[in-house]
Formats: sequence, C-alpha cells, structure tokens
Amino acid sequence: MKIVLRNLTKRFPNRNKKEGGFVTAVNNFDFEIPDGKLVGLLGPSGCGKSTALNLISGLEKPTEGKIFFGEDDVTGLPPEKRGVGLVFQNYALYPHLTVRQNILFPLQNLRGTERPSKEKMEELALEAARMVQIEAYMERRPSELSGGQQQRVAIARALVKRPRVLLLDEPLSNLDARLRLQTREEIRRIQRETGITTIFVTHDQEEAMSICDLIVVMKDGMEQQIGAPQEVYDRPVNLFVAKFLGTPAVSVFEGEVREEKLYIGGNIPVLDVPGVADRPVTAAIRPEGFVPDTVGTLFCVLNRIEIMGRDTSVIATNSHCLNELNTLRAIVDTEEIDEGRMPGSNIISFRLKPNKTHLFDPVTEERIPFGAVPAAAKKTAVPAAAKKTTAPHLPDPVTEERIPFGKELSEKKKSVKHHEG
Ligand SMILES: Nc1ncnc2c1ncn2[C@@H]1O[C@H](COP(=O)(O)OP(=O)(O)OP(=O)(O)O)[C@@H](O)[C@H]1O
Ligand SMILES: [Mg+2]
Repeated sequence: MKIVLRNLTKRFPNRNKKEGGFVTAVNNFDFEIPDGKLVGLLGPSGCGKSTALNLISGLEKPTEGKIFFGEDDVTGLPPEKRGVGLVFQNYALYPHLTVRQNILFPLQNLRGTERPSKEKMEELALEAARMVQIEAYMERRPSELSGGQQQRVAIARALVKRPRVLLLDEPLSNLDARLRLQTREEIRRIQRETGITTIFVTHDQEEAMSICDLIVVMKDGMEQQIGAPQEVYDRPVNLFVAKFLGTPAVSVFEGEVREEKLYIGGNIPVLDVPGVADRPVTAAIRPEGFVPDTVGTLFCVLNRIEIMGRDTSVIATNSHCLNELNTLRAIVDTEEIDEGRMPGSNIISFRLKPNKTHLFDPVTEERIPFGAVPAAAKKTAVPAAAKKTTAPHLPDPVTEERIPFGKELSEKKKSVKHHEG
C-alpha cells in the first residue's frame, strides 16, 4: 500500500509555557512512500519522527494536510479503521496475558463480520508467531521472555490483523547491542516476506542505513532528503544530512574555491572542483576520503593512530577544520599510513577523494555540485586488483587456533631469533 502525504503539518501548543506559542512538530510533509518498501524515518531527538508516525497511524490529527493509503483518503479515519499495525519502543505487552493471548488480543477486539471464528483466530495467531519465530513460547508470560523476544511478540501482535501498513517507532531502542543487530535483520526479513509497507522510526543512522530501502532524513519537523541510503550518503543535499549520516562523521573545513580548485588554508590546492565559481565554501570530507600520500596537499599534524579490528583511524589536526579542537578523523588502509608521513616529523599529508568530498554554501549550507573527475586524477588511482590485500585467517579445524603461514612464519622466526639473541 502506497502512502501519500500532502502538505501534512502538525502544530502543538508549546509545552514550555514561558515561551508560549506553537511548536511545529511536522512541517509541510509532501511526499510519497512507495508500496511494499521498508522506509526509515531518521533524524535527531525532537525532530518530529514520532509525531509523523502518529499522524499516519491516526493517533494524532493533523493541523493541516491529508494522508492517503493508496487512493483512500484516511485523514479522517480513527486508527482502528486504517488497517495499521503499530510497534513501540517499550513493547507495551499485557503482562498478565500469555504470548498467545497477547497476539490474539487485536483479533478478539474485532466486532461483527470482521471477527474471525475462534479456530481462524488461533490459526492467524500461530501464523504471526511463526513469522517472528516465537511459536515455541506461546504459553509464557512476557516477564518470562527476553527483551528481544518480547519485541517479537509485539511485532506478531501488530501483524496478526494483516495490516496494510506496519509502523515501528524506535522498536530496537530497549535492546542490547547484539540483540539490536539481530532484531533489525529480523525486521528486514519479516518485511520482505510479508511485503507490507513499513515505516521504521529511528535516530540511529546506521540502523536506518543498514536495513531500509529508502530513508527520509528529518530536521526540525522538515523533510530534508529522501532516497536510497547509499544515494543519500553519497550525495547529501545539505551540510546537516552530510553530518548526520556516517560514523565516524564527516570532517568539516572552511575553504575557498579559486579557478576550479579547492583551497583549505594555504596556497596549494587540495582538490580539483570543475565547474565551481570562485567563492568561499564549506567542505565536508568522509573519513574514507582522506588518503595518506606524499603528493597529498592537505597537511595536518598527526595526533594519534587507533587500530580497531578492520579499521585504522588517523586523528590529526588542521587549523581550518571546524570540528571540535580542529581535529579530523580519517579511516585509512593500515599499509598506507606511512605513505603520507614525512620522515622525522609529525606532519601527515592527505590526498582527497573527490567522490568523498562534499562542498556546501557556508551560509545556506546547501550542496554545491562539482564536475566529473578529470582524467589525470583518475590515472593516479590504484586499480582494485593492484591493491594490497591482507592475509586471510586459517584456523585449525579442531582446536580453531590460528595456523600461521607465509610471511607471518618468517616474521615469527625472526622474533624467536631475537629472543634467543
Ligand atoms: N503532545 C505534545 N504537545 C506539545 N508538544 C509536543 C507534543 N508531542 C510532541 N511535541 C513536540 O514536538 C516536537 C517533535 O516531537 P516528537 O516526539 O515527534 O519527536 P521525535 O523525533 O519522535 O523525538 P525522539 O527521537 O526524542 O522520540 C518536539 O519539540 C516535542 O516537544
Ligand atoms: Mg519519538
């Protein structure tokens, strides 16, 4: 079921009596949510995500505007007539009812011709329980389940009436980190299997990016950008979106364009930016956009290197970096760090990847596009096949302990010799 929002606005009387007036929680939403997709509503706390969801479910009435499910205008319909399934952060299960009774509850509330037979209800409840893989716990009470299992029951309860639309408001926030990862994959699977148009509210960009077909980025009640996660990550429409997506976040610099070249302080350009007129700019660079390189021209003071599993972070300082303490964070290939370091000094130089560098107007903060990468810059890029690869791991099939091989062995020998000597 496609969801169409037309000029949808919700104003609340300000809770802060001193300030008075109104708070616009949702400001003129005007977009469509395509049928059968998993859509993430993403933004910082207080930006209006829950209000938007409550408008769609019917729990809140809009101040202005309309909501359509497919061709049906549902703006005036109460929640129970909209065919929506709702799941909240705190599960909201009935503690005195078993899992089975909790899932049955929405069906037992149906009246007249809508009410299925007893057998049919049991059948639908079991089907919903199977969908979320909770059927082994049907006779338990919520207090006898883990948080993740309780949230699955809540999802089953939302699915049992076969809703046209499934609405999830921060459904993973009460779960620990591992369960959160697992449950979000579950939500993805359930959405795929049922094909129900689903809106998933979260303030966690990684969560939204990892499972959603589309994300809607919000700020102060306003939609900022809608698109596939990768699309929004690769082409943020404004500085807010660039900063909000991605961990670690972009590093932001005060810069200037002269003769289609980007300068960040100094008189040596750091990047070609074809098609941009001479002007001041704000440059936001993804952590993976910095490449340590002796021919690089963004000079920084190296503060420290952090190696965490797969990632190697370089933390460095540049006086034009607008981040806290002028500190930028780059994620680099471990083998490449030394390629940007000047022997005997703590200076590191970076080359910038053009597709990881975004320019914005310093005043409006809107995106300034720039042209294709010139052929010369492309040539210097290392072809994928020539990239250094790290050795794979070879565990013993029985003890599961590491079996060293190749270079590692000779290094081991060396260190043994060292010990002996
Ligand atoms: N019933 C209400 N009365 C007055 N103001 C409200 C009401 N509900 C929400 N607001 C205000 O509307 C704005 C949006 O609130 P909303 O709960 O939709 O944000 P949110 O994005 O869901 O935030 P969070 O991530 O913290 O859940 C906030 O400024 C909030 O204080
Ligand atoms: Mg909320």
